Amino acid sequence: MTFNKENKGLRDVIADESKIGFIDSQKGILSYRGYTVQTLAKNSSFIETSHLLLYGKLPTQSELQAFDKKLRKNRDLPANVLKMTKLFPPKAHPMVSLQTIVAAMGAFSEDPAAAKPREILLDRCIELVAQFPTIIAACWRAKSKKSFIKPNPKLDHSSNFLAMLTGKVPDAETAKMFDVCLVLHAEHSFNASTFTGRVVASTLSSLHASITGAIGSLYGPLHGGANEKVLQMIAEIKNPADVESWVLGKFARKEKIMGMGHPIYQVKDPRSYILEEMLKQLSQKKHNSKDYETLKKIEEVTRREMEKRGKTDVWPNVDFFSGALYKLMDIPVELFTPLFAMARISGWAAHILEQLEDNRIYRPDCDYVGPSNLSYVDISQR
Ligand SMILES: CC(C)(COP(=O)(O)OP(=O)(O)OC[C@H]1O[C@@H](n2cnc3c(N)ncnc32)[C@H](O)[C@@H]1OP(=O)(O)O)[C@@H](O)C(=O)NCCC(=O)NCCS
Repeated sequence: MTFNKENKGLRDVIADESKIGFIDSQKGILSYRGYTVQTLAKNSSFIETSHLLLYGKLPTQSELQAFDKKLRKNRDLPANVLKMTKLFPPKAHPMVSLQTIVAAMGAFSEDPAAAKPREILLDRCIELVAQFPTIIAACWRAKSKKSFIKPNPKLDHSSNFLAMLTGKVPDAETAKMFDVCLVLHAEHSFNASTFTGRVVASTLSSLHASITGAIGSLYGPLHGGANEKVLQMIAEIKNPADVESWVLGKFARKEKIMGMGHPIYQVKDPRSYILEEMLKQLSQKKHNSKDYETLKKIEEVTRREMEKRGKTDVWPNVDFFSGALYKLMDIPVELFTPLFAMARISGWAAHILEQLEDNRIYRPDCDYVGPSNLSYVDISQR
């Protein structure tokens, strides 16, 4: 067997079977456990979607109530972990703090990934879904030299997070939009971070170690970090009228336009339509459409330039509009990727549970192309 360059990055390699996320890259379809992301964004909530991902089915009314109750009960962090959130230097990126805290939480949890029965591991997964918002808000408040705000069990998952972050309970419309963002980011099949989580879990390492690996993978600008880079990009452009020359400059320097292109989709990412619509609505409501207009112009010029170069499959991805939307919700730019993680924890956990149901350690091969049969030369002779 030899290496086929087209498969670099495991592209087009089917690594396993899965019942969790489905993507049709040509038609632009994304579904979780058989429900399209549009259906879930319209009718479901992040909590219900998390139940769907973790248990494989939509909950009944009483199951949803019990699940919600369990999440609300598990939002607190162990006291020593809470202390740790205050120990990072102010310049630490919130993704680094999140990754470190999740790794540390492993020390406070009996969590061998191979935990039997499966219910114990599932409980640990639910705890992480409940605790991620608290970790992110606590680290951010500590970084901003503000005091920690305790989780409020009277508030739903999304409202509670925004209240812990900002100190203000959000209005119902903002909380709903934020919740839809979480639904849209909850799952995406064998992407880099989910695959990382599955690879670590396949060694029968701990749940926290697997999730820590996934967070590290999501941090990269070619994956979850792109939403933050999109905002840095539009901050460089003072006026939508400057987009044309700015994009042409990027192309001339062979730099990528963040938020455009996708390793899988060859059409516009289905999530980006919903995010774009929400951004449009909130921009109108807040009488602040500059970022939206800038993004639409970047999309137009990038598509035109790509097409000139014979590339018709570079479209806005999930990160293109999400950052500007979060910005209008007064969420700091550095938190965009942690918010992605706060949603994706449900997908990661579902995949780790699935991996362990029928596990085999990951061990791909490579084509060795380095030298061979070298003679060892003593260090004094080199
Ligand atoms: C997502 C991404 C990594 C997909 O990568 P990929 O399928 O491996 O595609 P490549 O990076 O190999 O790009 C293929 C070609 O399209 C071009 N291209 C792809 N995305 C581009 C972008 N956003 N801006 C400019 N050119 C782009 C590449 O320069 C490359 O051109 P070449 O063949 O002349 O070298 C890539 O599109 C990208 O870096 N996008 C920006 C980062 C981003 O938004 N990431 C979030 C992903 S959800």
